[in-house]
Amino acid sequence: MSASPSRLPSSTEAAPLARDVVRGLRASRIREVANAGIGLPDVLPFWFGESDQVTPSFIRDAAGRALAGGATFYTHNLGIPPLRAALADYASRLHGPTAVGNVAVTSAGVNALMLAAQLVTGPGDRVVAVTPLWPNLVEIPRILGATVETVSLDYGPHGWTLDVDKLLAALTPGTRAVMINSPNNPTGWVMPRAAQQVVLDHCRRHGIWIIADEVYERLYYGHEGTGVTAPSFLDIAGREERVIAVNSFSKAWLMTGWRLGWMVLPSALMDDLSKLVEYNTSCAPSFVQEAGVVAVQEGESFTQDLVKRLRGARDHLVAALEAMPGVDAHTPEGAMYVFFRLDGAKDSLALCKQLVREAHLGLAPGSAFGDEGEGFVRWCYACDVARLDEGVKRLRDFLGR
Ligand SMILES: Cc1ncc(COP(=O)(O)O)c(C=O)c1O
Repeated sequence: MSASPSRLPSSTEAAPLARDVVRGLRASRIREVANAGIGLPDVLPFWFGESDQVTPSFIRDAAGRALAGGATFYTHNLGIPPLRAALADYASRLHGPTAVGNVAVTSAGVNALMLAAQLVTGPGDRVVAVTPLWPNLVEIPRILGATVETVSLDYGPHGWTLDVDKLLAALTPGTRAVMINSPNNPTGWVMPRAAQQVVLDHCRRHGIWIIADEVYERLYYGHEGTGVTAPSFLDIAGREERVIAVNSFSKAWLMTGWRLGWMVLPSALMDDLSKLVEYNTSCAPSFVQEAGVVAVQEGESFTQDLVKRLRGARDHLVAALEAMPGVDAHTPEGAMYVFFRLDGAKDSLALCKQLVREAHLGLAPGSAFGDEGEGFVRWCYACDVARLDEGVKRLRDFLGR
């Protein structure tokens, strides 16, 4: 009789484990808070970065038509030609001439970030990231064996600001890449054009890659952008420079669950990117890509209405929070979060768990976004005002106890 190949390890053998670097990754603290609310039926969830609205029907209908028409096969690694063409037109309209050969379709923004990092970073590389920050940007280069150093935004009377000199000092020669997310999750900070220019010039001099996470570029309420979009590195960099801009359908067209995104990058990287896509996902789903064409080509008025609604929700929530004792809130310039300081949130993870259990209010702990986020909580305001009001009431009652 032959031995069973799947016998359990004896108690003297070590359990099978993932690589050290993977075991060292931080688990999501937002998820940890959400888990504390499992089983509570009436929790108001403001913790995740998505709207409470479904994707608009003209996009869902397009996906239905594509499925009915048989769009169920693999596509080219870099995306279907009509979607790449539509995205090149879109990027050209927003940020200046962009060729199809500079655009690749990905399986949402997070996959685009992983591909960008795989393209230009590897074991031992030094990567710098501006924080507080959605954790994926810090953890992804670490999965690849890179070392990530963070440079914190500063918090002051005008909210979060970047000390550009501090960032430049960290971008030493030999640094491989800098990861910048603007508009920023969680703070809503938007990198000013002048700062982008200084960082671009510096990175040009030292051959440092800029990985620009611009998935919130359309959720912008300031005046420095083009009117419909936040300042972008694509506005000031040539397409063949060391800049990779990552984008997504998730935010501007409410398509989080579809997993569709794209990146704009130098054409010289395309053949290598094509290989990486092959070994990661092979391609984005074909019927989703077809719906993406409709979103890009017919979705402009939807996006502009969405931004108006979000601006109203933002102003409503900030006004309510500012009126609350113990809360220090500022009006964010972009994205869809208010990241506010709360007296008594010294351990924001513990506080957010308590808020879920006792007030049935779901907020994200600031510490999920880096040490400098401790003491803060993040509230996603992409929902109707009545729901925001009920959340504010629960927070007020909790703090008043
Ligand atoms: C800063 C940032 N980048 C990228 C993403 C990725 O979004 P998706 O993978 O849904 O495109 C998110 C999602 O919340 C985000 O907050």
